[in-house]
Amino acid sequence: MVLISGQVGEGVDTLFREELEACCPTVQWGVDMSEYSTFRTGGKVGALAEISQLYELRETIRLLGRRRVAWRVLGGGSNFLLASPVFDGVFLRLTGTFRHISLVEQSGGSGTGEVLAGCGGSLGRLVSWCADHGLVGIEGLAGIPGTVGGAVWMNAGAFDCEIGQRVSALTVIGSDGVERSFRAEECRFSYRSMKLPGNGAEKGVIAWVTLRLEPGQPEEIKARCRKNVALRSAKQPKAVGSAGSFFKNPPGDAAGRLIDAAGLKGLTRGGAMVSPEHGNFLINTGGATPEDIIALMQEVQERVYQQVGIKLEPEVVIL
Ligand code: EPU
Repeated sequence: MVLISGQVGEGVDTLFREELEACCPTVQWGVDMSEYSTFRTGGKVGALAEISQLYELRETIRLLGRRRVAWRVLGGGSNFLLASPVFDGVFLRLTGTFRHISLVEQSGGSGTGEVLAGCGGSLGRLVSWCADHGLVGIEGLAGIPGTVGGAVWMNAGAFDCEIGQRVSALTVIGSDGVERSFRAEECRFSYRSMKLPGNGAEKGVIAWVTLRLEPGQPEEIKARCRKNVALRSAKQPKAVGSAGSFFKNPPGDAAGRLIDAAGLKGLTRGGAMVSPEHGNFLINTGGATPEDIIALMQEVQERVYQQVGIKLEPEVVIL
């Protein structure tokens, strides 16, 4: 299958293009991912389809399965690098109905509150929404970029708070178009990762998540959120292209500390640099290419390994 021209091999599959446009009229072809990645660089994707309704999602993923086209869900692009020059597949972005947030169960007195959130909405908006509604439990996530779905998929966390600790259920639309619900106990959340039973997560789209939160005072919750945002911005580089923490913290240590101790802050490869502010941030100083970032990643991995024998693993999803 060839989705965009300019590649070696057969011609573009026009029938598939028509079929996808029928499922999803706003689909864009041959999209430069630098516009959709907070790294501000990346290759091209065959197609980017914005999905705003459940029936569109069902039909699109059924079509992609039937035609054996590779696809991925694009969250906020804040933990992602398209390192290949071309990904000959389709990226799906959840919008519209998948950005809704609603209260399932009102917290009252000592009761808890359940919130149903669409996975295409921003995590920041969900954190603020919960604060406005007097719901405690995800303030630690304040300031983390990306979408709700991306946060669930990566089990995003900061300040001893991980979203997986608050998930009570997930709704996944499988590649057969069927909606399935999973209870929290079935979703194996671990450090920066989660796994659904079988191969559900790989084969489906997480569309909605239910979070169980505790009651609290909106003003106090908002104050905690502001404090966490301030703590992050004091330590982390701002207003530069990056994907946040690049490497996972190895057990019992911090990638930023190890990179700093190895004297690698400020190291550059082309336009990519180890942030002088925080060792675990690889930044785009201007015209970094994906190759620059990968070369810098490998250099950092090698040097840290030489010094302390630890192989740092990227947290960023690299395709
Ligand atoms: N450190 C250094 N030098 C540095 C950077 C850090 O010595 O250049 C030391 C710090 O002094 C501290 C330790 O390393 O003792 C950990 O650093 P920090 O407190 O900044 O936290 P982190 O482990 O690097 C994690 C998350 C961040 C989150 C912060 C705040 C991971 C991989 N990263 O960072 O999440 O904001 O905690 O809680 O778990 C992200 O995932 O993209 C992200 C930004």
